[in-house]
Amino acid sequence: MEGITQSTQRLNRPSIGGMKLGLNGPQKKLSLWAPATPVKEIITRPGMDASFIGQAITGRFCRDAGSGAYGTVEIRKAPAGCGHETLAIKSSCTESYDSVKEEAAVGITLDHKHLMKYYGYQLETVPAGAGIKKTASIVMPAMASTLEKRFEDGADNTSEKEIAGLLCELASALEYLHGRGMIHSDLKWDNAFLDKEGRVILGDFGRTGTSTRFLDCFNPSYPPEMVPFARGGDCLSTGSESSPSSSHNGSGDSGYSDHNVLDANEPGAVKTGINYSSDIYCLGVIASKMVLGKNAPYAWSMDKDAETGFSSKDESYKVVDAMGAKLPATLASKQLIELVGDCLKFDPQSRPDIREVSRRLEDITG
Ligand SMILES: Nc1ncnc2c1ncn2[C@@H]1O[C@H](COP(=O)(O)OP(=O)(O)O)[C@@H](O)[C@H]1O
Ligand SMILES: [Mg+2]
Repeated sequence: MEGITQSTQRLNRPSIGGMKLGLNGPQKKLSLWAPATPVKEIITRPGMDASFIGQAITGRFCRDAGSGAYGTVEIRKAPAGCGHETLAIKSSCTESYDSVKEEAAVGITLDHKHLMKYYGYQLETVPAGAGIKKTASIVMPAMASTLEKRFEDGADNTSEKEIAGLLCELASALEYLHGRGMIHSDLKWDNAFLDKEGRVILGDFGRTGTSTRFLDCFNPSYPPEMVPFARGGDCLSTGSESSPSSSHNGSGDSGYSDHNVLDANEPGAVKTGINYSSDIYCLGVIASKMVLGKNAPYAWSMDKDAETGFSSKDESYKVVDAMGAKLPATLASKQLIELVGDCLKFDPQSRPDIREVSRRLEDITG
């Protein structure tokens, strides 16, 4: 990729003859290899020094910023003279090692003033009992807040121009991603950070890439095309096991489906795949939440039809149509209401592209 290089530095040589732990006897040819000593590898974005990443990860702990199934985000004191007081370190647990490593590898290639700067990451493997513990740790700037924290109670005294200005910054980050053939796929107001100057910085590249997949779980704050219309399961229980289409999603245990199981002719299914337009929808959700706060209504719902277990596309459309009307005219001009409505169109192909969104936002900011 243009202007992007990677510097890899092996801090410890990997052990040559790791410990071989036969688990099930030689006939099953199953064995686990564990390094005799810890192995550390640091990968940086261009111009960054590997030692900076190492120092940042071991910097003095200040506070926890958050945690989840993937691991933790900690705020730590930054190495002296780097221009930051603190840095954020996102670290995986062994189970999420691969996904955090993938996120980091994407993150260090991105370079835009409204995208989170991933300075580099460390991959560490240490022996732990009979197995190994693997940690991927990403170093990035520490953020002051998020759009969620700032707008959870609604826009209050924030003017429409100011809201449009913040949305413009977010849109510029998205324009950069889309221009490089990438979809963010997890665009939410809690992933839109604010730095200490109040600028929007889009982060969390855990789902960012050149293609995307369905969500693991039913979630109406995402566009309908990202939500698996699967039957059964914990996340989306439709309770119609006898339906002829229940065979489409296998067991339906997790509610997760892949592209192949989505039959475009089924009620509720969307004909086009998940695309850039899915990010546009999420931008519309963020815009409506900035005006209405955390109680903004979902733009679509999936009220289950008692017989088929699916909602009809027409019902969902009605919900979307009603959305624009809910934005208060005092805070949102006709232009903003129309833009939000267009971003939230049920049909992905009817939504504006990111360049059009940016242009219309710039018209509002004046
Ligand atoms: N650079 C950062 N600065 C401050 N807090 C952060 C930063 N990155 C993430 N966080 C916080 O850490 C938590 C997890 O963030 P994130 O990386 O988005 O993971 P996920 O959304 O998958 O749980 C969230 O509470 C988020 O606000
Ligand atoms: Mg997040």
